[in-house]
Amino acid sequence: MTMRNTIRRAVVTGASSGIGEALAWELARRGATVEIVARRKTRLEKLADAIHARGLPRPIVRVADLLNEVDLATLEGTWSENPPDVFVNNAGVGMNRPFLSSDLESMERLITLDLEVPMRLSRTVGGAMVERGWGAILNVASIAAFFPTPCHAVYSAAKTALLLFSESLDLELRPSGVTVTTLCPGLTNTEFFEAGDYLTDSLVYRMSRDDPKDVARAGIKGLLKGRVVVVPGIKLKVLLALQRLIPHRWLVAAAGKAMCTESHRGL
Ligand SMILES: NC(=O)c1ccc[n+]([C@@H]2O[C@H](COP(=O)([O-])OP(=O)(O)OC[C@H]3O[C@@H](n4cnc5c(N)ncnc54)[C@H](OP(=O)(O)O)[C@@H]3O)[C@@H](O)[C@H]2O)c1
Repeated sequence: MTMRNTIRRAVVTGASSGIGEALAWELARRGATVEIVARRKTRLEKLADAIHARGLPRPIVRVADLLNEVDLATLEGTWSENPPDVFVNNAGVGMNRPFLSSDLESMERLITLDLEVPMRLSRTVGGAMVERGWGAILNVASIAAFFPTPCHAVYSAAKTALLLFSESLDLELRPSGVTVTTLCPGLTNTEFFEAGDYLTDSLVYRMSRDDPKDVARAGIKGLLKGRVVVVPGIKLKVLLALQRLIPHRWLVAAAGKAMCTESHRGL
């Protein structure tokens, strides 16, 4: 048996803003009690109140820093005993710097949060779901997983690794009734660009962004259909089709124009 259409319990990491917040709303609207995880307690509590005020199941607030071993191990203990129907690895950060001027600490933080933590939680929760015989994992990667992106190298490397990991894991777990879907959003209107220190004079900062609600809806719909990879919206699908037609070096050069700025040259 694979994922059921009724989601009763779900977990969303990084639910205090942006795509994670929209995913929590989307899951709650479908009747799920959602465990919302992030560091900012006030934001999580506000979200739980807002969802409950709409007559939807009140989310469970779990304040945790996923980069803190104690917090992570405590959460793992809870979820391995009683795995949710749907588990979403969404928490993540970006970093928009030329590689040689990125500090080691930020690099390690990004790789841990965007890649190692989703792998570790997929192992814990995926194992418990397999034992039960069903469940669904949604890993939030990025459209950057398909492109080398200068001045964004660590992020696109982490997201590419997450995409390939998740596709591989889906093949391993699907026969046991557990699916792994990877959501690959494009530019989305969230706090991501401020949190990741994106320079406001870059082209990428000024390009139009998708609504996180649309991204979340596409992700959950794809998960329920058992899709392996979800690329939300027609614009991104066209971009991926072009990616196969245009010489690769041109694409990398275009990505570099969008990501690297005049200010980066001074770093
Ligand atoms: N926005 C985009 O254009 C875009 C495009 C493609 C993919 N994505 C991916 O989408 C996901 C969500 O990003 P977003 O755009 O919604 O950005 P966002 O609004 O900045 O949300 C990031 C979330 O991650 C949480 N988080 C960060 N560090 C954490 C930590 N150490 N422990 C626990 N939670 C942590 C933040 O909560 P706290 O600060 O409260 O902990 C926040 O809820 C990320 O994986 C990102 O890579 C975003």
